[in-house]
Amino acid sequence: MQPKAAMTDPDPQIELCDALNHALADTTVTTMLAQNFHWNATGMAFSQLHQLFQEIYEDHFQAQDDLAERIKALDGYADGNLGRMLQRSEIVEQVGEASAHEMLSSLLDAEVTLAAAVKRCGERAANHGDTLTEDLCIARGQVHEKFAWMLRAHLS
Ligand SMILES: [Fe+2]
Repeated sequence: MQPKAAMTDPDPQIELCDALNHALADTTVTTMLAQNFHWNATGMAFSQLHQLFQEIYEDHFQAQDDLAERIKALDGYADGNLGRMLQRSEIVEQVGEASAHEMLSSLLDAEVTLAAAVKRCGERAANHGDTLTEDLCIARGQVHEKFAWMLRAHLS
């Protein structure tokens, strides 16, 4: 007979894969947000913004794969359905034109949200003793905080 705690505790694998799928969805929506801004940036800082937004979406595109394959390594389901990602994600998409300031501000919000999402995921991994997932989340959190700093610096 299983101990009582084991029957009532949530399944760590399901809980962790759910948190990773949340981070994957946020990362995917932010990838598209950054690429949208890469295409539509305007103004005197066009070249800098065009380049920075590209750096962000290229990093995030690779991160989608890293997060999804970590889910697979945990024997979970990596949910790559775009509609479900949009439902799951907390990132706010851009609709229509935006000024350079609005793009920077919107992407800054996305990076801050992402940093918080991977931090929560990393803490959950640590609670389950999964140091490899924790390590991935820490690495992702550092990148998101770096991009948040860069975006914030453009706004100040
Ligand atoms: Fe391009």
